[in-house]
Amino acid sequence: MITLKNIVLRRSAKVLLDKVSVTLNPGEKVGLVGRNGAGKSTLFALLNGSLHEDGGDFYIPAQWRMAQVAQNMPETDESATDFVLNGDTRLAELRTQLRALEDADASYDDHDHGMAMAQLYTDLADAGDHDAVPRAQSLILGLGFQSHELDRPVNSFSGGWRMRLQLARALMCPSDLLLLDEPTNHLDLDALVWLEAWLKRYAGTMIVISHDREFLDAVTNVTLHIDNAQLVRYGGNYSAFETLQAQQMELQAAAFSKQQDKIAHLQKFIDRFKAKASKAKQAQSRVKALERMEKIAPILANAEFTFEFKEPTNLPNPMLAISDAAFGYQTDEGNKYILSGVNRSVLAGQRIGILGANGQGKSTLVKTIAREMKPLGGTVTEGKGLSIGYFAQQELDVLRSGENPLEHMIRLAKELGPNARESSREQDLRNYLGTFNFSGDMVKQAVGTMSGGEKARLVLAMIVWQRPNLLLLDEPTNHLDLATREALAMALNEFEGTVMLVSHDRALLRSVCDEFWLVGRGVVGPFDGDLDDYQRYLLDESKRLREVAKETQRTLEAEAQASQAAAAEAARAAEAAAKAAAPAPAIASRDQRKLDAQARQALAEKTRPLKKELEQVDQRMAQLGQDKTALEERLSTPLPPAEIAESGKKLKAIGDELERLEERWLALNEQIETLTQAA
Ligand SMILES: Nc1ncnc2c1ncn2[C@@H]1O[C@H](COP(=O)(O)OP(=O)(O)OP(=O)(O)O)[C@@H](O)[C@H]1O
Ligand SMILES: [Mg+2]
Repeated sequence: MITLKNIVLRRSAKVLLDKVSVTLNPGEKVGLVGRNGAGKSTLFALLNGSLHEDGGDFYIPAQWRMAQVAQNMPETDESATDFVLNGDTRLAELRTQLRALEDADASYDDHDHGMAMAQLYTDLADAGDHDAVPRAQSLILGLGFQSHELDRPVNSFSGGWRMRLQLARALMCPSDLLLLDEPTNHLDLDALVWLEAWLKRYAGTMIVISHDREFLDAVTNVTLHIDNAQLVRYGGNYSAFETLQAQQMELQAAAFSKQQDKIAHLQKFIDRFKAKASKAKQAQSRVKALERMEKIAPILANAEFTFEFKEPTNLPNPMLAISDAAFGYQTDEGNKYILSGVNRSVLAGQRIGILGANGQGKSTLVKTIAREMKPLGGTVTEGKGLSIGYFAQQELDVLRSGENPLEHMIRLAKELGPNARESSREQDLRNYLGTFNFSGDMVKQAVGTMSGGEKARLVLAMIVWQRPNLLLLDEPTNHLDLATREALAMALNEFEGTVMLVSHDRALLRSVCDEFWLVGRGVVGPFDGDLDDYQRYLLDESKRLREVAKETQRTLEAEAQASQAAAAEAARAAEAAAKAAAPAPAIASRDQRKLDAQARQALAEKTRPLKKELEQVDQRMAQLGQDKTALEERLSTPLPPAEIAESGKKLKAIGDELERLEERWLALNEQIETLTQAA
């Protein structure tokens, strides 16, 4: 059990938690939610011991083993498999000991040496050494890697993929408490579904931070909400939390306005009779009553955050013309082509969503347009006066952790020099940062200490300031909380320039883009269709990729058979893999049917409770309808006044309930429909 009692937690002057108490029970799956900068990651720092409480008591069982995803980018040349394998620290430790013993000169004391070896072998067996490799590999494959990548060095992967390996490494570690801070940021849909399935089988206590509602609903049953330095526990997943919170807010708002009425009444009485001697005493007691009254806080409308892109000073048309271009990387072994034969133009005011499965070259395309890479062939011609605002997928690349937001703005203003279209006076820069919710002390806070969402917001602010006419946004919503995502969608809709957007956020793509490009199989083309068509395309494509993987697998196997030892190893690994607790890797051969079945089952599991509730709502509505008719009929006959009043009241109650139920009915239907479409 984890217990917080009157915990106070501070970061410099900021009070993030103010005397909060909460208990988490073993085995609970907890979603930790709240606005960017509310203190979610800081609470993790308390739980994992890297930060101490500033007040109150904090308890976590000492013997609990904890697993969490390291936040740094791994820079090792270990193979992917070894890197993940070493996530099991106990096992890694035992393996090191074994190696040391094997290397040691055994002759000095054969007996002790033998005993030590025997003990180590027992410990290794206990730690699950025999199937550790296939377990590690099934995690890696589950997260979307291909089988030929298992032995590739970690630092040969791109940033997003390396973070996936960090996640696999954390899952590899046997644990009683699993801490996941926004684990879905680097995942695509396939890997996301796999992770959900894996987490559902996780037996320990889990706390996960996420801004992804569907993911939270799938894997949590308790919700902790950080808001205004308070931590409130709700039994239920994110949707349940939203409903409960809305109800609570409604209740509180009602109680607040009732109390306000009462206060006004008392105050009026006091004001009127203060001067009258005969009433002075009564007035006095009202004053006391007023003082004693425990004031209900008003609902603070969550300080809504909005921003806008400035009107571009000019709009070249066309913005860009790409002709016969080839995109990719220059390597020591020559050019590595990712996309070729690209012929597209970008016009003023277009809203282009760039679609494509993972690793197909979306970021390569965007980076080249952003002038961060050179095309390997052909030309990219820019319109006169083109001004690009680029939000990179690894948005941290443009930030310097030692500098504060103000310094970032000053540097930006200097870089743009006379080209800057906005005032670069320090006070103006401060004011500007204020409009992006960086107020007071925050303009002087080192970027390295800011929360993920705050950093992403700063990058947005820097882009907006440059008054671009072409926005290139590569996964801009990672880290952003829901309210900020909405603000971004609104700002993009108002923007007069051109938008090119890469995003997994279907809501954002839907609300911003009106045409799509598809990046895949080495080419870029227009995509005729909407996002639902795209979803189907993705399914087909992942089937095709699985076929390719199968083919590769077959070749690999054929090669492996040449060596008997390798063959034996493969057989053993296959057997162990079958036994491994982790779900089947997404790209394993012959597992397509199983995967489909799993997907169907997952869908059924998700929709079952909704359908059940829908049925109940239906029945209740039918019942209420009957009651209503009966009552109405009754009311149409002559009745004694008391009964009329009584029936009228009942009728009103029925009406209210029906209205609520109708809304719920609609919401449920919508949810079921969305889930079915997404599957
Ligand atoms: N060393 C520090 N000095 C000053 N402020 C800090 C420091 N570390 C963190 N903060 C501030 O504390 C607040 C909480 O940060 P935290 O990372 O816990 O937020 P979060 O809830 O995880 O947000 P996000 O959703 O963006 O990840 C932020 O406003 C952050 O800027
Ligand atoms: Mg955080």
